[in-house]
Amino acid sequence: MTQTILITGASTGIGRAAAQRFMAEGWNVLATMRNPESSDLTGENLSLLRLDVTDADSIHEAVAAGLQHFGRIDALLNNAGYGACGPLEAFTEAQIRRQFETNVFGLLAVTRAVLPQMRAQKSGVVVNISSVGGRMTFPFFSLYHGTKFAVEGITEALAFELATFGAKVKIVEPGAIKTDFAGRSLDFTNDPALAEYQPLIGKVLEVFGQTDRPSSDPSIVADVIWQAVTDGTDRLRYTAGEDARVLMANRSAMDDASFTAGVKARFGI
Ligand SMILES: NC(=O)c1ccc[n+]([C@@H]2O[C@H](COP(=O)([O-])OP(=O)(O)OC[C@H]3O[C@@H](n4cnc5c(N)ncnc54)[C@H](OP(=O)(O)O)[C@@H]3O)[C@@H](O)[C@H]2O)c1
Repeated sequence: MTQTILITGASTGIGRAAAQRFMAEGWNVLATMRNPESSDLTGENLSLLRLDVTDADSIHEAVAAGLQHFGRIDALLNNAGYGACGPLEAFTEAQIRRQFETNVFGLLAVTRAVLPQMRAQKSGVVVNISSVGGRMTFPFFSLYHGTKFAVEGITEALAFELATFGAKVKIVEPGAIKTDFAGRSLDFTNDPALAEYQPLIGKVLEVFGQTDRPSSDPSIVADVIWQAVTDGTDRLRYTAGEDARVLMANRSAMDDASFTAGVKARFGI
């Protein structure tokens, strides 16, 4: 029986690459996005559906339409997300809530909409896209790290729950990936009147703006997502990208004080 995956945020970047990978493997793909009318994804085993992870009605309509179209959902890729960057004090309350509504509450809502189907099937794999930033932090990303640390904890705990009926939930942690993430998906917010932060903001922009920083193609993440969905193991975490592998190994080898000292040295704090 042909298997089906539902992907959130499939318009660009990692979600789009995953849609292409699963189609190439012969899966049915429910490629969901906020504006499906502007997508150029094509394929026989593809259904483009509108889904905004912050809009409950759109989630339930997309899941129902997907089930009607392909009959089942074997895998869910919670990929939709973006990064807020800047001093906490510079953000409005609405911006803070939008970051958590998208990256955390949206992921929870889509998962809750798909789980009844997986429970009925007694199988399924959910893959949650976290980040190296779900396990370590850098200055001015307090909101983004907050969401990705939340995704890590949610996933780790949920794995016990889903095992009770034979489903799995896994975490993919990409490093730097060449997508729209650092462009249109970055909510960079600053207030020059917050003078104390400005020297560090300058340094952070300089480090993250370096064009020769190593970064991977989104197809690398799609390969890892494919592995996570299909390897049949209970493995919880998968890094994606060579930089992610090195960063995670270094973080695991260090205690908190050593890691913090390293970040401070890197950013001249
Ligand atoms: N690129 C990296 O270096 C990197 C590293 C680690 C983790 N990640 C994670 O990878 C995931 C995908 O990001 P990307 O790198 O592929 O960037 P991207 O190309 O900018 O893709 C982000 C996707 O999220 C979607 N999205 C944002 N808000 C949404 C909402 N409310 N409802 C539905 N979709 C929404 C966007 O849809 P629209 O087209 O409608 O805006 C877009 O499809 C994110 O969770 C990100 O945190 C990225």
